[in-house]
Order: sequence, then structure tokens, then C-alpha cells
Amino acid sequence: MSSLNPKTYDSVPAHKVAFLGLGVMGYPMAGHLALAGHSVAVYNRTTTKSADWQKEFEAQAKGALRHAATPREAAVGADIVFCCVGNDDDLRSVVLGDDGAFAGMAKGAVFVDHTTASADVARELSKAALERGLHFIDAPVSGGQAGAQNGALTVMCGGDAAAFARVQPVIATFARAVTLLGVSGAGQLAKMVNQIAIAGLVQGLSEAIAFGQRAGLDMNEVLAVIGKGAAQSWQMDNRGKTMIEGKFDYGFAVDWMRKDLGLVLDEAKRNGARLPVTALVDQFYADVQQAGGRRWDTSSLITRLK
Ligand SMILES: NC(=O)c1ccc[n+]([C@@H]2O[C@H](COP(=O)([O-])OP(=O)(O)OC[C@H]3O[C@@H](n4cnc5c(N)ncnc54)[C@H](OP(=O)(O)O)[C@@H]3O)[C@@H](O)[C@H]2O)c1
Repeated sequence: MSSLNPKTYDSVPAHKVAFLGLGVMGYPMAGHLALAGHSVAVYNRTTTKSADWQKEFEAQAKGALRHAATPREAAVGADIVFCCVGNDDDLRSVVLGDDGAFAGMAKGAVFVDHTTASADVARELSKAALERGLHFIDAPVSGGQAGAQNGALTVMCGGDAAAFARVQPVIATFARAVTLLGVSGAGQLAKMVNQIAIAGLVQGLSEAIAFGQRAGLDMNEVLAVIGKGAAQSWQMDNRGKTMIEGKFDYGFAVDWMRKDLGLVLDEAKRNGARLPVTALVDQFYADVQQAGGRRWDTSSLITRLK
């Protein structure tokens, strides 16, 4: 079974690109680049995944595909290097050092980072890139595994406008919206806004469903009705039914959400924003982790209320 759903790709000149990190998100994102006609070199820490990736896409790719033993080797010859790893430290480990991507990139090449990381690391790596004659765009994504598989992610970018203009049509291979929101770090800050908006909303939806169930209502029927009114949300449409059923296998893991809320709360300490509900929901997610839900998806907040 394919790991992605092919889509109709806009015609853009073929690029030589690299992709570092073939996880839940990176594997299909890199796959879309291959199917769209770009030459793709991949790197993954666990090398069996890179070999599997090449095997899966080789027959349908128009450009050359290869897998490399280090980020540096993958980056050689690429005009754009994409990346989607776990956190700030993982990102530094694939970018910097003798085997890091920056060591292999030619002057003028652009590094596009899709990891959800801090705005600080984006600024730090952007500065390091400039010192080497490279460009760095922070470009975290929203849309989850399904968005990556369908090539329909929302991408929030920060960095230099000219470098962004070069990479935007290539990012669009796996995205439905790719927007520059400001200087380096602005993409990560926008992703933090996204996570703040989601955290409180999922807790509200959890309370609503748990309340309705205690009241003896048919919650599928109730959500079908109120989902057509002002309470409608993406979470209600996509997770409401599975929350009612107590199924939490549908996407973004609680561990990742805690990482993201940690980034948010650190940034709020610096900029003075008050986030009382977000801080509380972060602690609720810690409860879910303790109850064994580290890999459950974020809608599992409702388990605390059962
Ligand atoms: N999953 C989602 O729904 C979603 C949605 C939006 C944003 N994100 C963000 O996207 C990023 C990736 O998420 P994911 O779900 O794809 O995670 P994942 O499945 O756990 O994949 C993580 C990838 O990073 C690699 N990696 C981790 N640490 C590394 C290190 N120190 N050196 C080299 N490679 C390393 C892993 O390599 P191995 O294969 O060797 O472990 C793997 O390829 C995270 O920042 C996450 O917050 C995820």
C-alpha cells in the first residue's frame, strides 16, 4: 500500500533537492517531491527507512533518487534541502558539524526546516546559514499525517523574501498553502499561535462531549447538529466521533503536543503573553502521558474526564 495519495502537481522546473528525516511527516512529503519530478536525495538516521523510501518511489519518479549515509552527503548538489526531524537538538544534529547538511550545501542553496522547533533555533541557524552564504527558512507545518499524505499541508514560513520566493513553488508540491509571515522565526511563532488555539479548543470539546454523555444525550446526533452552528471546528468535525468512541489513534501524538506547548510557554515567558488556559491544558496532557497515553493523539484529553 502506498504511503501517500498522489495529487496533481503544478508544473515547476525540476530541482535537485534533499530531504532529511523520513518520519510520519517527512516520508510522504519527500515522496511528493519525487512524484512531482524533482531529483531527491534522502537521509534518515535509521537507514532502513531511507532504503524503503527509495524502493517505494523509484518506479514512479521522473528524477533520480538516492539515499545518503549522512545529512552532508544528501545535501551535496542540492539547491534546496528540506528537513523534518523532532526537536531543536535533533535539528542542530542534522544541520551542524562535519556531517551536517550545511557542510555539504553549495553557496546560495536554501535550507527549509519543517520541524516544529523554537523561534530561537530558527534565528540561530539562519545566522549560521548566512555566515556560510546559505539561506534558512523556518517552515513548520499544520495538517497532520493526513495532510502530509495528501500533499495538503499548511506551511508557515519565516526568513528572507527572495529565498522564500525560490522555494515556495517547490514546497507547494506537498502543501495547499505556503505563506511567508515575517523574518526568521516568524514561521515557528505562527505555529505556536496554532498550537495555543488548538489546546484550549480540544479541552473545551472534551468537556462538551463528556458533559453530553453524562447527560444521557446521543452525542453523535448532538455533534451533527451543533457542528452546523457556531460551535463547529476542525477538531469537532475530524475528532468528535472518535472522541465519543474513545479511540485515539488518529494523528498528532501527546508527546509532540507537550514539546510544542513547552516551546509556547518558554516563548510566552520572554514576550510577556499570559496563557493561563494553555498552561493548564499542558498539565492535563502531562496527566494523559502518565496514564500511558504518550502516543495517543491529542483528542485523548477527554480520557481525564471519563
Ligand atoms: N505527526 C504530526 O501529525 C505532525 C504534525 C505537524 C507537525 N509535526 C512536527 O513534525 C516533526 C516530525 O514529526 P513526525 O510525526 O514526522 O515525527 P517522527 O515520525 O517521530 O519522525 C521524526 C524523524 O526525525 C528523525 N530524527 C529524530 N531525531 C533525530 C536525530 N537526533 N538525528 C537525526 N534524525 C533524527 C527520525 O529518525 P528515525 O527514523 O531514525 O527515528 C525521524 O525520521 C516534529 O517536530 C513534529 O512536532 C508533526
